[in-house]
Amino acid sequence: MVGSDDLDLNRRDLMVGAGACAAIPVIPAAARAQPGPAENPVEFRVSLSVNGQPHTLTVDTRTSLLDLLRENLQLTGTKKGCDHGQCGACTVIVDGRRINSCLTLAVMHEGSAVTTIEGLGQPDNLHPMQAAFIKHDGYQCGYCTPGQICSSVAMLEEIKAGVPSHVTADLLAPVRLTETELRERMSGNICRCGAYSNIVEAITEVAERQG
Ligand code: FES
Ligand code: FES
Repeated sequence: MVGSDDLDLNRRDLMVGAGACAAIPVIPAAARAQPGPAENPVEFRVSLSVNGQPHTLTVDTRTSLLDLLRENLQLTGTKKGCDHGQCGACTVIVDGRRINSCLTLAVMHEGSAVTTIEGLGQPDNLHPMQAAFIKHDGYQCGYCTPGQICSSVAMLEEIKAGVPSHVTADLLAPVRLTETELRERMSGNICRCGAYSNIVEAITEVAERQG
């Protein structure tokens, strides 16, 4: 039969044991999973044209096209917003198509022709879309604007080529740039300042002038 002294001893032993367990340092899983020393980056040579200028660079294979433009070529007009393909601030035109330059590796663009905002126009010779954004006040802070302009220029070419969108009702009829089409096609370009109505006005004016 167990006496009350035995019970006290057992409770004390239990407390001591629990305290000892608590004193064992807890090593976070992330710390235990630390990788070994970094290996040398793998580099690769890539030749591409940016705004009509040929470039040949040796870059870490993990370099995004966005980082190549901004860090290697100092073309900082292209903006890094989310770096995850969610905001469109990094939109550039590659071989005639708009892409998120943060989502593509530079080494995948051997031989590509890239156009950034710097290649569309210059302060003394603006592209019609740049001029329309200024005229219609299509920006506030301006951070999304280079991406909006590159995206809208390429988007108008998609319309001319008859490329349908998710809101195109009749796939057999010529595509018309309604406001619904425009907003759908530009939905990948986020404006945190909310200048959307002015952006729509600017793009619509250019589209109407182009006929
Ligand atoms: Fe590329 Fe946001 S920075 S989509
Ligand atoms: Fe500020 Fe668009 S103008 S995010």
